[in-house]
This record gives sequence, C-alpha cells and structure tokens, in this order.
Amino acid sequence: MPRRHLVDICDLSKEELYGILNLALEIKRFPKKYYGICDGRILATLFYEPSTRTQMSFQTAMLRLGGKVIGFSDPATTSVSKGESLKDTVKMTSGYADVIAIRHPYEGSARACALYSDCPVINAGDGGHMHPTQTLTDLTTLLLEKGTLNGLTVGMCGDLKNGRTVHSLIKAMSRYRTKFVLISTKELRIPDYIRDCITESGCSCVEAERLDEAIPELDVLYMTRIQRERFKSLTEYEEQKGVFHLDNQKLRLAKKELTILHPLPRVDEILVEVDEDPRAKYFEQAVNGMYARMALIAHMLDGRTGIPMPVYPPSGRRCPNTACITNKEEYLPRMQRVDISGPVCAYCESKL
Ligand code: NCD
Repeated sequence: MPRRHLVDICDLSKEELYGILNLALEIKRFPKKYYGICDGRILATLFYEPSTRTQMSFQTAMLRLGGKVIGFSDPATTSVSKGESLKDTVKMTSGYADVIAIRHPYEGSARACALYSDCPVINAGDGGHMHPTQTLTDLTTLLLEKGTLNGLTVGMCGDLKNGRTVHSLIKAMSRYRTKFVLISTKELRIPDYIRDCITESGCSCVEAERLDEAIPELDVLYMTRIQRERFKSLTEYEEQKGVFHLDNQKLRLAKKELTILHPLPRVDEILVEVDEDPRAKYFEQAVNGMYARMALIAHMLDGRTGIPMPVYPPSGRRCPNTACITNKEEYLPRMQRVDISGPVCAYCESKL
C-alpha cells in the first residue's frame, strides 16, 4: 500500500475529514476506550520552529493512545547544526518511527519531507504556508459548538498573509458553503493561492479593514496574531502590529451565538477581559487539538488516511518565493502544479 501523508488539509476527502472529526469527538467523550490502541508505535516530532500547543498536543495524543514519542524541538541540538539536509534527517527518522510530525520555517517543507520518508508524514506547520492539524483542531471545535460546518459566516482577522492556520482553515471551509469575511490591513491580505481557492469553490468573500464594522454578522470570529517572525524587517512588523483588538466593547456588537476562536499564542489581539465571555472558546479549542490529533494519528497508523504523494510534473523554473524550501535545500526536484490561475510551485503554491 502506498504511504499516505497529511501535507495539506485537502489531502483528506470530505468524507475522511468528517470521519476524523467525529472520531475526535468520540475520543473526547470516551477517552479510555482509545487508551492503548497505538501500543508499540512511535511518533517522531521534528520541530525546527518554536511550538507549545502543537508539539505538546501531538506528544500527549500519542502517549494517551499508548504509543511512544521521539524527536527534537531545537534543531541546534541535532546534526542539523552540522549541516545535515532535511532529506537525510527525514529518511533516517522514518526508519525509526511509524509516523512523523514536522514543523519547519520554510514553506513546502512537509511536501519535501514526504518525498523521502518511509513512513507517513504530518505537516505540523510549514512556514507561512499551511497548518492542517490546526484546522482539524478548529473544525472539531466548530462541529462541537455549531453542530455543523455548513453555511457559516466566518470572520478571519489579523495576519491573513502570513498566518498558516488561516490558509488551511480557508481551504477546508471552502468546501462548506462558507461566507468569508476577511478582516486585515491591505498589506496583510490573503495570498493569491488562497484567493484562488475561494474563487474556485464559489463561496462568497468580502474584505474589511475594521473589526467593529464586520463583527455583527459573524457566526465565527477567528482571531490571529501578527506573525512577527515572517516579516522581512522589524520596521514592517512595527507598522502592522497592534492594529486589531477584540475587547468587550466590540463584543457587544456581536451575535449572542458567536464563537470566538484563536489558534494561540495571542499577543495583544484579544484582551484578557474577553476570556470570561462565554463565546470565547480558544482554550477549549487548544484542548480539542489533542483529541483531533489522537484521531488523526489513529487513522494514519491504520494506513487509510491522507493521499499518497501525488506525482507532479517537473518545473524548469526556480520558485520565486525566497521562503520556499526549494530555495534552501537545492537538491529538491523542482515540481509544479497547474492551478486556475496557471502553474504554481508544488511545494509552496507560489505562482511560477
Ligand atoms: C499557530 C502556528 O504555529 O501557526 N500556533 C499553533 O500552532 N497553535 C499560530 C501562531 O503561531 O500564531
């Protein structure tokens, strides 16, 4: 059977996705039933970038399933600091572990990892590109709170350009007749490949620059922090930071049934006073992340989830995105995919 990976949330069919979300909710209700189902299996967490929730929830997910965990959270303590390539680290790790979760600062790194891994690869965040397991977390929470994913008006606010959780969530929600309200500054709007995805889905999408004007019609508000580490310079970050704040005053304009989500960590975009509002669900969301990852690991280890690495045609061109993994690890084959707007890099989805 070909190896299956979760690089992009759309690697899961709609049916598979529902299966995983429902399993996550089932595990949350009856956790003991699932203790030990991954006995003898090993998860490797290769974290080249800082993480609190994603790494700990992956680890606790595997431990609760009865499996074991190896890995690193600081590449400086590994052979990466001696110049080892991503290919070599992954190839070798996949001989030790049954499943790999990788987080890396370069876009497309999980796709690259899947090329060389002998076991399933899970993308735990690849630069400012994608974060599919955060989406599983978000959708599990929405299913619990709303009872459906269909037809919701979803506001996304903050750094929509660099926020990988936003990109993955939009891709997933584009399948559910969502009405998107994108709230950001002009500089931090969604990238073209996400815009194309909304267009292709036929979902409606409006853009706004003020949270107080957008908030009254929302069923869901997804707040995000401005991603300081993705800016080219500190000056550019300084110009964007602190623009959006959710506070109790703005919440007075919102629906009673609004669900407030945030992938966390927050900086200053949600005031602490909001934590007491019953509509604030971000801490529950973080806990749901563990159940979502338990469901995903269980599914992946039975070999049926995710898609085998697609075969992409070679691209003669270098990817123009300097944050793309192909511009860091030069041995990677250049590959392309054809999108509605033309050829894009198969790793980071930038236009070629
Ligand atoms: C997010 C991430 O790493 O992209 N955090 C997370 O995984 N829960 C969001 C962020 O860092 O802003």
